[in-house]
Amino acid sequence: MTAQPVDYDDIQGLVRFGYRRLTQACFLLLRVTNREAALAWLAQAPVTSAAKREPPPETALHIAITSAGLRALGVEEDIVEGFSSEFIVGMNSDSSRARRLGDLGASDPARWRWGGSSETMPHVMVMLYAMPGALDDWIGIAMSAHAEEGFEQLACLTTSDMDGIEPFGFADGISEPKVDWHRERPARDEELSDYTNLSCLGEYLLGYPNEYGEYTDRPLLDALRDPDGVLVRAEDAPERSDLGRNGSYLVLRQLQQDVEGFWRFMDEQAQGDPVRRKQLAESMVGRTMEGEPLMGRTNEAIDGEDDPRNTFTYRSDIEGLRCPVGAHIRRSNPRNADLPPGPPGFISWAARTLGFDADALANDLVSSTRFHRLLRRGREYGVPPHEETGLHFICLGANIARQFEFVQSAWLSGLRFDGSHNESDPLIGNHLPGENGVATDTFSMPVASGPDMRVCGLPQFVTVMGGAYFFLPSLRALRYLSKVQP
Ligand code: HEM
Repeated sequence: MTAQPVDYDDIQGLVRFGYRRLTQACFLLLRVTNREAALAWLAQAPVTSAAKREPPPETALHIAITSAGLRALGVEEDIVEGFSSEFIVGMNSDSSRARRLGDLGASDPARWRWGGSSETMPHVMVMLYAMPGALDDWIGIAMSAHAEEGFEQLACLTTSDMDGIEPFGFADGISEPKVDWHRERPARDEELSDYTNLSCLGEYLLGYPNEYGEYTDRPLLDALRDPDGVLVRAEDAPERSDLGRNGSYLVLRQLQQDVEGFWRFMDEQAQGDPVRRKQLAESMVGRTMEGEPLMGRTNEAIDGEDDPRNTFTYRSDIEGLRCPVGAHIRRSNPRNADLPPGPPGFISWAARTLGFDADALANDLVSSTRFHRLLRRGREYGVPPHEETGLHFICLGANIARQFEFVQSAWLSGLRFDGSHNESDPLIGNHLPGENGVATDTFSMPVASGPDMRVCGLPQFVTVMGGAYFFLPSLRALRYLSKVQP
């Protein structure tokens, strides 16, 4: 097996860049109406690659396709079946998935504006980014006649530039895994006892070893099905053509935020005290509104991390006295290693792994953060307080089930995260009664000198308005797919 270098020209730029300079963006959700025209457009769409350019591009375009979209384009069924099962069945597949993701009540897929049924399921998403004032022209240039002929528009998700602040008022986009583009991290690095921010390329791109040292399943084709050699051969199966390599999965969820309700609740709890109101909101997030971690800048040396606002773990705050265990950033990234830290040596290792050590066992419930990282690429929408507002949440990962779904269900919606009891994420949890009608609308803040401080009666602040799982193909895969014989 030869480890080939990364071909940035083949990767969609969104995997490598967040395009902060390109403050205007919109996401077109399209359905195929004319297959030939749709394929003709896909074959020549000006997709932006991950190669660095000087000067940096002033516009960008990305294309993502759902499993319904692959079928609508005429991709053969056995190829579609080579993708992961959660991508094939989709985010809205059944009530069990909806329950696990917390999509109940007002967030029930049956109520979604798009993505909740086969009629409202997008086939293709075209993501357009531009410098201020240049988006309309860019849409006009990129969406040529073939696009108009090939697709009908289901929705145009507009975005707004909130200058790095999400609608509740918090600085966002601070913590992000560092992708190991140079493939320096050992393919298999077992039993890490320190939290690391450097994450294997195979966690985000198909066709490379992931954090288990393995290649994530993806469609590998008999080379005869790619006679022109459009695709590259699989690293782990050189006789097969790799349709997944340099591609990723993209999760999109339209999350409406009730900004007024959020601050009204804080006001009620703080009885009008402006300092307490802000503190309560901050303890729910785990950072101050300006982005400082409640843990403080502890200056821990973290592999792959150079932003001082991220040089911390929760190791010195097991009880959650500085940052509540249930805070959003602590749930979404508990910053744990495979093994709780401890002195080196076999006896210590055995005690920690075999669970003789009670603390180790408790920590283990949230350990191994490195298998559950997300590359976030979302954009805000709307203008509070005049319009509906929220987040078009977007994340990338090579394994939707182990990354997005695990974080969303076990950590954010889970009612027993790290010893918490019948509580979900205070920001994004649905706070609906759980099994047997048990209340889940509380948020606990541990206090050193006595029982936890608890706020009760949390309303739902975030409602899911739509969502879908997409494949973000490599440029080669897009070329291959656009040659499908209808
Ligand atoms: C409207 C909904 C949401 C809001 C308002 C929100 C807000 C925030 C804020 C203010 C931060 C801190 C800034 C930062 O560390 O970058 C953050 C971090 C984060 N959020 Fe969310 N978020 C939302 C939904 C989600 C969802 C659905 C997920 C995952 C399924 C998620 C995963 C994360 C992760 C992984 C981090 C970084 C944590 C860390 O590494 O310390 N968020 N979010």
